[in-house]
Amino acid sequence: MASVLDSREALSQQIAQVAEVASYLWQKGWAERNGGNITVNVTPWADDALRALPAIAGPFPIGTEVPNLKDSYFYVKGTGKRMRDLARRPMENGAIIRVLPDGLSYEIVADNPVMPTSELPSHLAVHDWLIRTGSPCRASLHTHPIELVALTHNRKWMDSDAATRMLWSMIPETKAFCPKGLGMVPYMLPSSTALAKATLDTLAKDYDVVMWEKHGVFAVDVDIMAAFDQIDVLNKSAQIYLSAKAMGFEPEGMTDAQMKEMSVAFHLPK
Ligand code: 13P
Ligand code: ZN
Repeated sequence: MASVLDSREALSQQIAQVAEVASYLWQKGWAERNGGNITVNVTPWADDALRALPAIAGPFPIGTEVPNLKDSYFYVKGTGKRMRDLARRPMENGAIIRVLPDGLSYEIVADNPVMPTSELPSHLAVHDWLIRTGSPCRASLHTHPIELVALTHNRKWMDSDAATRMLWSMIPETKAFCPKGLGMVPYMLPSSTALAKATLDTLAKDYDVVMWEKHGVFAVDVDIMAAFDQIDVLNKSAQIYLSAKAMGFEPEGMTDAQMKEMSVAFHLPK
């Protein structure tokens, strides 16, 4: 079957990276059934021929207004689609959508009329903010990492500063690679516009990654592999913490002085 990826090498590479990350999410046990979603702003690779494609479905409402994304193009995971299937067939388990000039609706342009993820309001609200603020980030990832989600079942770790400090203190790399930390969002209905707003507010408060209580994480970065890395690093810290607890002791953690030394040596913001 013909695909918009045919003869578009750079766009194909972006989608291949999405498929690679989807396979990691499945291997890590973070993507049960249809769990998690991915969106990538592929506007830089939308050439004139792609822009001229007629809609194959839509228009549909986004559920939130995204004035900075007018005429932008996104690869989006399909709602109800499995990451393990997307890893092998990304264009059958996701689609390319175009945000319409009203900034309120979208249409599907390729390859198949796969309806976007139910978390589209959160994803597009964040992409809109990234463009508005001049951020270089173009990919967003929501997934269900086991140990990080487990932490949110304890009130103590729903405090962003407490959770971030604990995760940073487990292994030096976590502070180096997630230097703004993990911002906690209290439980809200999945796919709701309230959750979209809270996600955006938390990123804007200057956190690298947002944690949705008893649900999952949401990360943005320059590409989808980098977004995956942020979550992987944070979840590694949660695993170290839980491993120590399973061995029957409270982990000591790096000291404040050791973490301050990291900030100075690597010019970290916090
Ligand atoms: P979708 O299948 O609609 O992407 O939903 C998965 C999910 O994790 C919702 O939070
Ligand atoms: Zn989810």
